[in-house]
Amino acid sequence: MRLRNVSPDDVDAYVRMRCDPVMMADLGGPQSREEMAAKVCRDAEQAASDLAWFKMIVPDPATPEMVAGTVTIWSHTTDDGPVSEIGWMVLSQFQGQGLGKRAVRALLEQARIENRWGVVHAFPATNNGASNGICRSVGFRFISETDLTFAGQTFKTNHWAVDPRTDLK
Ligand SMILES: CC(C)(COP(=O)(O)OP(=O)(O)OC[C@H]1O[C@@H](n2cnc3c(N)ncnc32)[C@H](O)[C@@H]1OP(=O)(O)O)[C@@H](O)C(=O)NCCC(=O)NCCS
Repeated sequence: MRLRNVSPDDVDAYVRMRCDPVMMADLGGPQSREEMAAKVCRDAEQAASDLAWFKMIVPDPATPEMVAGTVTIWSHTTDDGPVSEIGWMVLSQFQGQGLGKRAVRALLEQARIENRWGVVHAFPATNNGASNGICRSVGFRFISETDLTFAGQTFKTNHWAVDPRTDLK
C-alpha cells in the first residue's frame, strides 16, 4: 500500500466513492456527478500546494492507476479555534482487508514525522463499525458522543482524537 496526492485524473475514483449512496450513507448522501471534476481539481490544487493532505490509497505500487480509496487531513475553523480533522473512504471491493487502517496509520505517521497538524480529530457515525474500529486500533482516544450537522442533516457521531507524536499504535 502507498499513498499519493490526488490528481485531476482521479475523477472516476471520486465518482465511484462520492456519488455512491452506500459509500455516502454516513456522509450526507451521494453527491452530484456533475460536481466531481471541479471537486477533484480543487482537492488536487490544495494537495499540490500542501494546504491539506488529500491522498489516494494505492493498494499495489506496481499498478498505481488502481485506487482503493482516500484518506484526508485538513484544518478548519470552529468556535474554539482551528481544528485538524481526518476522514477516509475505502471502495467496497477493497473493504475488510485492513487497507483503511493501514492508510490512516500511514498518514498519521507522516504527520508525526513532519510534526504537522497537532492533535487530529475524527467524527465517524456512531453506527459505523469499521470507522470506529479504525480509530480504536490506530490509537485514537474516545472523547464523547456528539451531534454534527453537515449537508443539511444531523448525525450522531463519536468524537475521537489522536496526537500522532505520542498516541499511534
Ligand atoms: C469505513 C471504511 C473506511 C473501513 O475501511 P476498511 O479498509 O474496510 O477497514 P479495515 O479493514 O482497515 O478495518 C478497520 C478496523 O475495523 C474493524 N471492523 C471492520 N468492520 C467492522 C464492523 N462492522 N464492526 C466493528 N469493527 C469492524 C476491523 O476489524 C479493523 O479493526 P482491527 O484491525 O482491530 O481488526 C470503509 O468501510 C468505508 O469507506 N465505508 C464507506 C465510507 C465511510 O463510512 N467512510 C467513513 C466515514 S466516517
